Amino acid sequence: MSIKILGIGAYVPEKVLTNFDLEKMVETSDEWIKTRTGIEERRIATPEQATSDLAYEAAVKALKAADIKAEELDVIIVGSITVDQVFPSTACILQRKLGAKNAFCFDLEAACSGLLYSMEVANSLLQGNPKYKKILVIGAEKLSSVVDWEDRSTCVLFGDGAGALVMGKTGAPGGDCIVASSLGSDGHYTDILQIVAGGSRTPASAATVANKQHYISMAGSEVFKCAVTAMVHSCKKVMKEAGITAQDVRWLVPHQANYRILRAVAGRLGIPEDEVYMNVNRYGNTSAASIGLCLDEIARGNLAEKGDYILLTAFGGGLTWGSILLKW
Ligand code: COA
Repeated sequence: MSIKILGIGAYVPEKVLTNFDLEKMVETSDEWIKTRTGIEERRIATPEQATSDLAYEAAVKALKAADIKAEELDVIIVGSITVDQVFPSTACILQRKLGAKNAFCFDLEAACSGLLYSMEVANSLLQGNPKYKKILVIGAEKLSSVVDWEDRSTCVLFGDGAGALVMGKTGAPGGDCIVASSLGSDGHYTDILQIVAGGSRTPASAATVANKQHYISMAGSEVFKCAVTAMVHSCKKVMKEAGITAQDVRWLVPHQANYRILRAVAGRLGIPEDEVYMNVNRYGNTSAASIGLCLDEIARGNLAEKGDYILLTAFGGGLTWGSILLKW
């Protein structure tokens, strides 16, 4: 028995918000956004769509690709910072929509590292307990709901979307899909990337709304530095653990935060730019969704061959980070 990715699916909302649209909303320019971030446009959900709706669309495609029914799922894990509501979990809401009545379901909050953390948990459950055979892992975000559309330093960065993977045990040869992994967190930096209000420390009130404390706040350049250091370090750890070098990696798939961050990470690892998967220009930073969106494009476009090494790496608020080496 080996643990494989049985199916991948992704979804982005139809509405496209371009840099030129943003020029009409805040004091910015297409040129500034493109040169600082590489982002040209991003997708924005409708007011009626919640994160579970985005997750549902991605999940249906992943289940179809895996050729399994929702009832066969043993676990559903949703990585998100934009859950539908504080509770019940978005995973439970998604379970109802899918009819995945045999699954136990929970959300996992690790910000932009949400998909990698969820994959690690899913992999451990599959490895450690014979009763778990098929797990749906999703990174889904409606970041447009937590962005201050008057703050040019953050609103140009983020977008909405969802990426889903079905992980499960199969008789297929070739070993497990996760060859090595390394995850980390550092709670000393909780305040450089956060949403301050809405939790138990600062519950929602008229004052928190007036002070815009329900929106993402970020110390951009500090985040930038920490992101590069953490991703490079964990990628190196994972490659060492697997006994491979940067030359063996077919694709580096980093969390799509910002073109400059991705280039800096690739440069320090010695991975050429044409082997770094990037779609940040089309979707912006979709937090936990971004790596799933990339993997879906790689799968649908047949951009990797069986046995290729794909190095996933992510970084986000918490701080959280991690890298996972996949054998495709
Ligand atoms: N349009 C035009 N000007 C903008 C702007 C925008 N959208 N946003 C900020 N500026 C201005 C600033 O006000 C500042 O002006 P000032 O010098 O007059 O004060 C100037 O541009 C430079 O700002 P700075 O923050 O130094 O720019 P930067 O080169 O660090 O780039 C980020 C800003 C946000 C793009 C960059 O720090 C970054 O990518 N950080 C990481 C963010 C991220 O990925 N977060 C999520 C991680 S999961």
